[in-house]
Amino acid sequence: MQYLPELFENNRVWVQKMTAQDPEFFRRLADLQSPKHLWIGCSDSRVPANQITGLQPGEVFVHRNVANVVAHTDLNCLSVIQFAVDVLEVSHIIVCGHYGCAGVKAALTGERLGLIDNWLRHVQDVCGKHAHLLAPTMDLAVRWERLCELNVVEQVRHVAQTNIVQDAWMRGRELIVHGWIYRLSDGRLRDLGVSMTGNSDVESTYAGALARLSETGS
Ligand code: CO
Repeated sequence: MQYLPELFENNRVWVQKMTAQDPEFFRRLADLQSPKHLWIGCSDSRVPANQITGLQPGEVFVHRNVANVVAHTDLNCLSVIQFAVDVLEVSHIIVCGHYGCAGVKAALTGERLGLIDNWLRHVQDVCGKHAHLLAPTMDLAVRWERLCELNVVEQVRHVAQTNIVQDAWMRGRELIVHGWIYRLSDGRLRDLGVSMTGNSDVESTYAGALARLSETGS
């Protein structure tokens, strides 16, 4: 018995389509990957990095976890960043959150989901740090969206604070860390204006992004 036959059929059709467009596609990819982008996003099934950016296999290196968290001690995430920066030599690291993130909502409301509560503590830390921007008197939908944005800004800073990125910048590498957010309801990506290009602009960019978020209230 073959399980999930429709997925294998989809795969067959996809290979046919790709090969028809470019007969060398798979042979070329098998020899080398040289993506310019590292994507750090949420595991949410509705936010697939390649599809929403129109990037082909081979064009984006991807790490996803619940609520797109970059924890300083997460060996998995750090290994992905180090490999992407030092070996693949990507030029852009994109932290992409999304509105409607269930992980962010659970962190905000304190909903108990199990083991994952411990992981979401990282997002609750973001929540606590910016409590003045997330007053309980505000509408839950507004606070939820704002925490989705604040979480991206914090995680961008975490990426920039890793010794991997710090050292790459010290060596003069052109490497930009970006913070984006995706809206499930219209499929649009938005740049949160928190792109960091070097050691000297991390804190000013972070402060500027926070100031903008607290002004606009969106
Ligand atoms: Co999510």
